Amino acid sequence: MTLQVQTPPLKGAKALVTGIANEHSIAYGCAKAFRDLGAELAITYAGEKAKPHVEPLAQALEAPIFMPLDASRQDELDAVFARIDREWGALDILVHSIAWAPKDDLQGGLLNCSAQGFAAAMDISCHSFVRMARLAAPLMKNGGTMFTMSYHGANKVVANYNVMGPVKAALEACARYLAFELGPQGVRVHAISPGPLKTRAASGLKDFDLLLTEAAARAPLGELVDIMDVGYTCAFLATPYARRVSGETLYVDGGVHIMA
Ligand SMILES: NC(=O)c1ccc[n+]([C@@H]2O[C@H](COP(=O)([O-])OP(=O)(O)OC[C@H]3O[C@@H](n4cnc5c(N)ncnc54)[C@H](O)[C@@H]3O)[C@@H](O)[C@H]2O)c1
Repeated sequence: MTLQVQTPPLKGAKALVTGIANEHSIAYGCAKAFRDLGAELAITYAGEKAKPHVEPLAQALEAPIFMPLDASRQDELDAVFARIDREWGALDILVHSIAWAPKDDLQGGLLNCSAQGFAAAMDISCHSFVRMARLAAPLMKNGGTMFTMSYHGANKVVANYNVMGPVKAALEACARYLAFELGPQGVRVHAISPGPLKTRAASGLKDFDLLLTEAAARAPLGELVDIMDVGYTCAFLATPYARRVSGETLYVDGGVHIMA
């Protein structure tokens, strides 16, 4: 196989990145990596409180589309994809990097998780990816790549990950089923499973610093990952070099998940 790959490899690609809260966000690493490799960006922020933190990052990345997006609001989802359709007429890359659960439900253990808390965590952290995929797919006229962020706690029990474990397991399964359903139109779908990173979302987990210390100690590669490690992995998967890879849950964790 000979690939005719443009340089930079994502030149001209249009990417929607959701889930940037600040410069520590995994989504920011993705946006920066895509931009470094030539993509144009649409960036969203989750409400007015988040806007001042995200806006300077979107400006630095020269994102022509910058819009509010609360994943629980179908009107905001519709507005983002309608604008992309109007301005770009197409989309190549989607990043869903969003997770949320009510604090008491997140920190109280699965046994005590309320039905409402479980449903809210599942809706914002998992089904919102399906909603985004539904709107993104028609815009991926020449194929495309979709990403969502999972964690090792989907497949193994990680102390204090609690309700997010089952939610991420469902999310990884959604990525596989979407990969199956969208494969015929050339759309590839991946869950990415980063090792622990000190972000705002992670600060909601009890004893998160312990996870960081343990991951650094157990990683065959000997150190923690950073957001650019995750970003460049997604960028690679979005290029034609990875055109036959789909439905994967790809660990970007320095190898921690292979350890007993
Ligand atoms: N930090 C880690 O150690 C780690 C490891 C593996 C996976 N992840 C996953 O990576 C993803 C990104 O998290 P992060 O660590 O970069 O933290 P982060 O706090 O920077 O990002 C989480 C994002 O979710 C957004 N969000 C929450 N509720 C929302 C809603 N209703 N609508 C729209 N956006 C909403 C927040 O605004 C924020 O931008 C999450 O899915 C998380 O579970 C994180």
